[in-house]
This record gives sequence, C-alpha cells and structure tokens, in this order.
Amino acid sequence: MSQEKFQALKNKNILAEEGGGKKRIEAQHHKGKLTARERVNFLLDKGTFQEIGKFVTHRSSDFGLGDQKYLGDGVVTGYGLVNGRLVYVFSQDFTVMGGSLGEAYAEKICAIMDLAMQNGAPVIGLNDSGGARIQEGVVSLAGYADIFYRNTMASGVVPQLSAIMGPCAGGAVYSPALTDFVTMVEGTSYMFVTGPNVVKTVTHEQVTSEELGGAETHASKSGVTHFTAASDPECIELIKRQLSYLPQNCEEQAPALPYEIGNEKRPLLDSIIPDNAMQPYDMKVVIANIADTDSFLEVHKDFAQNIIVGFARLAGKSVGIVANNPQHLAGVLDIDSSVKAGRFVRFCDSFNIPLVVLVDVPGFLPGTDQEWNGIISNGAKLLYAFCEATVPRITVITRKAYGGAYDVMNSKHIGADLNFAWPSAEIAVMGAKGAAEIIFKNEISGAADPDAQWKEKEKEYVDKFANPYIAAERGYVDEVILPSDTREKLIIAMQMLKNKVAKLPRKKHGNIPL
Ligand code: HXC
Repeated sequence: MSQEKFQALKNKNILAEEGGGKKRIEAQHHKGKLTARERVNFLLDKGTFQEIGKFVTHRSSDFGLGDQKYLGDGVVTGYGLVNGRLVYVFSQDFTVMGGSLGEAYAEKICAIMDLAMQNGAPVIGLNDSGGARIQEGVVSLAGYADIFYRNTMASGVVPQLSAIMGPCAGGAVYSPALTDFVTMVEGTSYMFVTGPNVVKTVTHEQVTSEELGGAETHASKSGVTHFTAASDPECIELIKRQLSYLPQNCEEQAPALPYEIGNEKRPLLDSIIPDNAMQPYDMKVVIANIADTDSFLEVHKDFAQNIIVGFARLAGKSVGIVANNPQHLAGVLDIDSSVKAGRFVRFCDSFNIPLVVLVDVPGFLPGTDQEWNGIISNGAKLLYAFCEATVPRITVITRKAYGGAYDVMNSKHIGADLNFAWPSAEIAVMGAKGAAEIIFKNEISGAADPDAQWKEKEKEYVDKFANPYIAAERGYVDEVILPSDTREKLIIAMQMLKNKVAKLPRKKHGNIPL
C-alpha cells in the first residue's frame, strides 16, 4: 500500500479525534469538563476502546450545515471493557455543534444500543448536548424517538446507565429518564423539559438553570437523578462502581467477589434499638453491620430520605437493600418513598439481584397532601413491585411494622421467602396509643382518671401485640433472631435461596399502577 494511503487514514483519524477543534476543546476544559474522548478513555480499561462510526458525517446541507461536517458527527460511539467486562458506550461531543443530535448521530447511538441488546452487555451514555440539531429539523426528532424506542426495548434486558455531564434539555431528557440510573455532575450539568426562559414566559417564575434542573435539584427535589458527582472523573468512577454490582444482562448473575465466611456476628446491633420506641436510630449503621465492609452504595441518597435503598454485598454477592429510615419522618411510607423504593425493587428483580428489606415503619403518612396527590396509587407501586419480584427476598423487622405498611414492606404474604424479626419488633395494626384510644374509647372517657386509664389500656395493647411472637406463632415470622446474628442469618439464608426459581403467571405484561 502506498505511503499516501497510510497518511490519508492517519489524517482522517487526527481530524476525527480533534472533534470541534482546539479552541472548542479549550473552552470545554475551561468549563471544568472533559472532552467526549477523554471521558471514554477514563471510563474504559486502558487500550480497550474500539470505536465504531468514527468517520460518519451528517447528510444535511440546510442552514449552512453543508460546510460544517465533522468526522464522527459529534458523538463518539463504540465498545470496550470496564474492569474486564464488556460495555457499550456513547459519548456526546459538545465541541461539535454543541453535541446536538442529528440523523447520523442518532443512527450511531442506535447501532450501539442494538449491539448491546444482541450481545447482552450494559449501555453507558455520557450526555453533553444542546439537544435536537436545529438545522436538521424533524429528522433529529425522529432520531430521538429511535433512541427512546431502543431505551424502552432494552429496559430489563441490559443495564443502561446515564451520566449527565452538560446540558440536557427538551425532549432529550427522556432518554436518560428511560434508563436505569442517572448520575449528574454538580455545577456543570442540568436537565429540564423547558428552560428558564420559557418558564419565565409561561409561569412568570424567575429561576436559574441550576435551580430549575441542576444536580442538587434533581437529587433532592425531583428524584430524577439517582447520584451526583463533584466532577467528570468522579462521575465516571461512580458509574464504574454502579456497574460492579450489576450483571451484564437479565440472564446473568452479578459478579461476586471472593469471600470466606468467618465470624459474622455484629454485637453492636444488640444495643442499637432505643428503649423508647419513639426514638430514632441510625438505620445506616444497621446496614453497615449487615453488609460487607464499606460495600453499601446508596441510591437516591438525598431524595425521599424516609426510605433507604442501595446496593451492597453480602459475603461477596450483590444484594439490593430497602430499609425504612426512622431518622426521617419516623420512616413512614409516603408518595416519594414508595415510588423510589418501588422502582429500585423492580430494577433488582429485572437483573437477578436478591433483596434484603429492613423494616421499621409506623405506616403511611396521613394528610390531604398525600391523599390528594395519590398516596393510594403511588403506595400501590411499591406493593406491586414487591408482589411481582421473583428474586430471593428476605425481610428483617427491626422494630415497627404497622398497618398496611407491614404488608407492603416485603411481608411473607406478598412473596418474601423468609421473614426474620428482632425481639424489639412490634407487629400490629397500629401504634398502641392510637389503638387504645379507639378500642377502649368508652372505658377511657368513662373512667375517673381518663389519662391513667388510657395509659393502662395502652400497656395492655403493647403487652399483647407489640412483639414479634404472635406473628411468629402464625408463621408470618420465620424466626425471631438476635440483632447481632442478623448478618450471619442473612448470609446462610441467601446461600439457601441462591437457586430459587419462581415464575409469574403467563401474561403479556402486568399493569402496575403508574
Ligand atoms: C445546533 C447547536 C445547538 C443545537 C448548540 N449549538 N445547540 N447547534 N443545534 N440544538 C451550537 C451553537 O451554535 C454553538 O456553535 C455551539 O453549539 C455551542 O453552543 P453555545 O451556545 O456557544 O454554548 P453555550 O453558551 O455553552 O450554551 C449551550 C446551550 C445553548 C445552553 C446548549 O447552545 C443552547 O441553548 N442551545 C440550544 C438548545 C436548544 O434549544 N435545543 C433544542 C432543544 S429542543 P459554534 O459553532 O458557535 O461552536 C430539543 C427537542 C428534542 O432538543 C426533542 C426530542 C423528542
């Protein structure tokens, strides 16, 4: 082959790798952002990236686009390894027409997603884009729809992880929203359907991009993002950590770390429940003493904090943890916490990740706000998610399991495989105080000293129901265990359940109350 042909290829590669050119790369760095290629290289094991469609260009000539052709068309796509495991990746290049999405660009992303589904490996999307390429008109809208369709088809087949590392606006937000987990970079990324200018015109609200759709907003207010990161490298590290808990696809198990069982007792847990049942305690300490050391990766850390969800390892194996949090709203279930936990349960079930559920729940949150905004149908989402889950499911009732929330929080009646309770468990229709007030109303009001009578009746109710033993007599609780034995019990039980086979009735799909 002639030297010119070698040179021609080399030149094209250099051109493609330059993206929108040195000035725009500098501007990208100036904003504290990595370029699309730097991000891919940071994500993948050294030297493993195989690029696809590096020389693709758009086919449009409208509005001056004929003179603005960039090799690769503004998105870097391909595959490679993360810690030795295959992943597919697309990385939007803001230096090329603001990373805007046109026809060819969308085709490149679709090609990656098709390969990922056919070959059973996760898709990682690194988003940094001004949205639909305005000059290309409807074909860019079509391109988005092609991606949305694939996001939906791939849902539950392969894990899909999104990083938001720059603007993400308009309908473009719906691709990340359809994926399993979103991680936003603080300060340099935002997501909204309509930006501050439109908001101002329509609702007269004055709001900045950051307030409307920055990382903190979506982490704490909307729950749109599951994770936030302080910088591009931290975001990519976080995505790698997420991957470490996940299988390649729905047919496989998540990778396990080697683990030798030793002394698994955790004495600290025997003193964690306060004597006063109204006092909170730190459920994250319980999780830390059940999971392998430092293995807990909390999802939605700042959103609906009355429930805690996240991945952990138990004797090296991936598990999903769902736990009421007595430190926030007494661990009550409300709309946001039900939706948060429901989606997490469904994710774990889609990808064969067993569930450990820690229960300390006083019930559902009362009030007009909750009722009018649909606690009934939203609470039902969590109920539905648990009922439908066929992965190994173990519950530990640490303290309160009251009312409908007892049923919802992975009770045996809705398919938990095993239900352990600590001696501090209180399994009842409601708290003793309220119960006494209702069922002994006449005795209390007719008593010479109503307060003393109320207290006595409350004690009667506590003695009768505020314990795990009635449920244990019925077999609703399989074993009452010492808190310090919980980790050991869970490890042994998960080992027993590891080959669990459970099938749902034949159907097209269920109708979760969305
Ligand atoms: C074509 C675009 C573009 C777009 C940015 N650019 N957005 N080109 N289509 N959507 C180009 C700019 O012309 C500029 O080109 C370069 O990208 C960088 O843009 P700047 O404005 O200089 O950057 P910055 O100041 O950082 O602002 C970034 C931005 C802004 C906030 C994203 O560019 C912007 O508001 N863009 C328009 C966003 C938008 O309205 N998109 C359509 C949304 S509707 P040069 O040559 O100067 O480097 C949508 C519908 C999707 O996406 C529907 C799916 C169903």
